Amino acid sequence: MAFPKGFLWGGATAANQYEGGYNEGGRGLAISDMISAGSHTEPRKIYYRTKEGEIESTTLGSSLPEGAVGIIKDDVYYPSHQATDFYHHYKEDIALFAEMGFKCYRLSISWTRIFPNGDDETPNEEGLKFYDDVFDECLKYGIEPLVTILHFDMPQHLADAYGGWANRKLIDLFVRYSETLYRRYQNKVKYWITVNEINVLGGYWTLGTTNKTANTTKIEGSVTPNSFKPEEAASKYQAIHHLMIASSLSNKVGHDINPDFKIGCMLALSGIYPKTCQPEDVFGAYDFRRRALLFADVMMRGYYPAYAKGIYEEYGFELKMEPGDEAILKQYPSEFLAFSYYRTTAFDHTAEVTVTTGGQQASSNPYLPETPWGWPIDPKGLRYVLNELYDRYQKPLWIVENGMGNIDVVEEDGSINDDYRIDYMAKHIAEMKIAVEKDGVDLIGYTPWGCIDLVSAGTGEMKKRYGFIYVDMDDQGNGSLKRSKKRSFDWYKKVIASNGEDLSF
Ligand code: BG6
Repeated sequence: MAFPKGFLWGGATAANQYEGGYNEGGRGLAISDMISAGSHTEPRKIYYRTKEGEIESTTLGSSLPEGAVGIIKDDVYYPSHQATDFYHHYKEDIALFAEMGFKCYRLSISWTRIFPNGDDETPNEEGLKFYDDVFDECLKYGIEPLVTILHFDMPQHLADAYGGWANRKLIDLFVRYSETLYRRYQNKVKYWITVNEINVLGGYWTLGTTNKTANTTKIEGSVTPNSFKPEEAASKYQAIHHLMIASSLSNKVGHDINPDFKIGCMLALSGIYPKTCQPEDVFGAYDFRRRALLFADVMMRGYYPAYAKGIYEEYGFELKMEPGDEAILKQYPSEFLAFSYYRTTAFDHTAEVTVTTGGQQASSNPYLPETPWGWPIDPKGLRYVLNELYDRYQKPLWIVENGMGNIDVVEEDGSINDDYRIDYMAKHIAEMKIAVEKDGVDLIGYTPWGCIDLVSAGTGEMKKRYGFIYVDMDDQGNGSLKRSKKRSFDWYKKVIASNGEDLSF
């Protein structure tokens, strides 16, 4: 058998897109509660009040102007508020995961369910109890939880009162939050990820940052590494430094509490190819790739790579390190690298590049088909990336997101025939298998994204579905929330039962 015994097959979700119950159980407000729905062509918006009292809006990836605070408007639909309502359906949903044979379930904790403001003196018992119940439900079926401590989830109070992750004070607040989780769930959860896709974070959305010129910064969708303003780069890179220190300290605290914990970092690492063999494309692709790998280099190896300085200099940015920071990074690196892989992209040195959910995006690849959202489908790229990452770090890898966002049709008889999704996954798993069996990559598990339908992070749509389980809800939040099995449900069940040997459909 290619996959080792105990290989962790499962699925992945995140609270900001799945959990809902945004104002229940003593939960506080998160920035994700302020992001409107959007679409492939219409960016999601965050409305805010300027310090002069004006109401304005910005898109994901931008910071707010100094002194501005995010607001919730009555006439706007906010998909996170209900999401697909795990909060009230967790028993039913986990039973369905168990029916598929999940060995593992990746979920994220909503920080403001535990600390409603992020800096409260004591945690919210009702929030802690909710996740106790969720973990008990998983363990009842022998499903190992894999917990993401921070997944696109910024307490509003920490953004508006502290300026978000640009402020070093957040390090202690995050470490206290993670320590609270480690202590409470030390006998229920073994696998942890500190921060989701640290390399796509940016702006008020995920870092809670403000800056002087933010209202003049035009960034559609997300950050554009080669063209965003120096002010954005400074707040972003400094904020992520603080996050990495917080993540390392969290590794330490977690292992002090339970030495058997496995604590990893997580990056968006969809692959990158040069568009042509022109040296500008080849080196450009290499350089673009290492901008994605930078934070993995720090967290996996324990120090900043030499090339970081050159990148920071491009933005006129000088990293502020405090005494002790280097030692913290060195002493408490991540034990495994978790990553998302959805697609590959082709780097063309004459064209614009961006970073969105799932990772970097450059130009299209004429050899690859694309999803309706323009994400190239590249199973062999997964083998390439698995090898690239294992060669680079020589530590266990975990594919914690992969899958195909697509429009699913419910037939008159209620069936949902998502053969395109099965085809996508079968081909990706076949490449994983070669990477494990032939290339010797140490792969711990596979948790495809959005194993049950949830809200898209990038567009806020519901119709961009990833699940094996369909949820009856539309882009405006209308629907019965009823769960039903897609054709891929039984297929994935068979894959898990055969430990990845039987991919037929
Ligand atoms: C990853 C995120 O970026 O990609 C998820 O970790 C996200 O939160 C996923 O949902 C897919 O992206 P999207 O935009 O299709 O939801």
